[in-house]
Amino acid sequence: MWRFDILDDMELKRPADTGQLSGWQRTAQGANLLSPEGGLGTVIFEEITALAAQHGAINLGQGYPDEDGPDLLLNSARENIASGMNQYAPGRGMPQLREAIAAHQSRFYGLPIDPEREVTVSTGATEAIAASILAFAGPGDEVLTFEPFYDSYGAIIGLSGARHTTVPLVAPDFQPDLDALESAMSDRTRVIVVNNPHNPMGTVFSRESLERVVELAERFGAIIVTDEVYEHLTFEQQHIPLATLPGAWERTVSISSAGKTFSVTGWKVGWLTGPQVLVDAVRSVKSFLSYSSGTPFQPAVALGLGMDDEFYHSIADSLRHKRDVLAVGLRAAGFEVYTPQATYFTVVDAEPLGITDATALARRLPELVGVAAIPIPVFCHEDGARRTRSLLRFAFCKKEEVLTDAAQRLATLRDRI
Ligand SMILES: Cc1ncc(COP(=O)(O)O)c(C=O)c1O
Repeated sequence: MWRFDILDDMELKRPADTGQLSGWQRTAQGANLLSPEGGLGTVIFEEITALAAQHGAINLGQGYPDEDGPDLLLNSARENIASGMNQYAPGRGMPQLREAIAAHQSRFYGLPIDPEREVTVSTGATEAIAASILAFAGPGDEVLTFEPFYDSYGAIIGLSGARHTTVPLVAPDFQPDLDALESAMSDRTRVIVVNNPHNPMGTVFSRESLERVVELAERFGAIIVTDEVYEHLTFEQQHIPLATLPGAWERTVSISSAGKTFSVTGWKVGWLTGPQVLVDAVRSVKSFLSYSSGTPFQPAVALGLGMDDEFYHSIADSLRHKRDVLAVGLRAAGFEVYTPQATYFTVVDAEPLGITDATALARRLPELVGVAAIPIPVFCHEDGARRTRSLLRFAFCKKEEVLTDAAQRLATLRDRI
């Protein structure tokens, strides 16, 4: 349990059941981090990282690469700092990056974007997501996400004061339950957040699923916010940006970032694109979250977005290979393995091993076999946590030799439980 004694002293901590939580409590509650007493609960990611360190385990719980991105970007950032590019960037983002984002959307998806009016650069996708939800939703509204969901959505929906509704992604391919989607929609649904490709489930949403989202958003007057940070990390299936579908553009804010594509998660350069009226609305919130950031990194990311097709193919090919290396160990361990179509995460089911509590297993795994993973229920509300109680997520954005080692360790699991 984290201690926030100062909050007790200042009487800023309100009991979680009063319905009158302060902003930080609503945020923590939305991310499943509020204890019943109104304090901060355990952060499972930190707990698993600590257990991994204690047992010298390979940490496949953490979803970031252990190798740097292309030299072209790294050298550009160094040069930009050395040449004095160290003050505020324009609030919309530097012109060369906005132009590169527009060119990228046109080159890969045939989407014509005006770099002056229809693009804003953000501090990672995280800020663009936060600013979008805060811009469009508030108390009395509902924001819908698929479940499991990336934790920042729950946190910001909580902060906004809106109600967080969810629709399950269903095994084995983890596409959305479209009937449940229709039932979950109402006139109160202000925003639908579509994380495609999906973390943690590794799904690439089908055209049919995306079309239904657009149709229902139109019917109920909702805005769609997409999170496409894994757009280039797809394997067998092509990523379809939702904004390219008929009827979608005028109600969609599309979000992506440099972190995953170029293995520079620490740079926190992201962006949103969409019709001017939506982009302006989001920027009016974003302006007072960070105003701007990452000046020396923005032109470097612009260079990355212009890299040739070979680069883009190679990142997906290399990850596909890593996915397969890890899968050998996961299968040998006795898990049911859900092969991801995208992202750098593989989800497995521990039930074939007779284990139904993935959270308990995640706590034991570092000591048992020297590998750490994250239980899927932490990305869910209560019902979703029950539905996914035996699922675990392993990251494979690590060096091949690390994954080979992890696979060998995992293969011994059957004999150790
Ligand atoms: C689905 C999803 N969205 C957003 C992010 C964060 O993106 P950024 O680092 O650009 O803020 C992550 C990072 O793990 C993610 O998995």
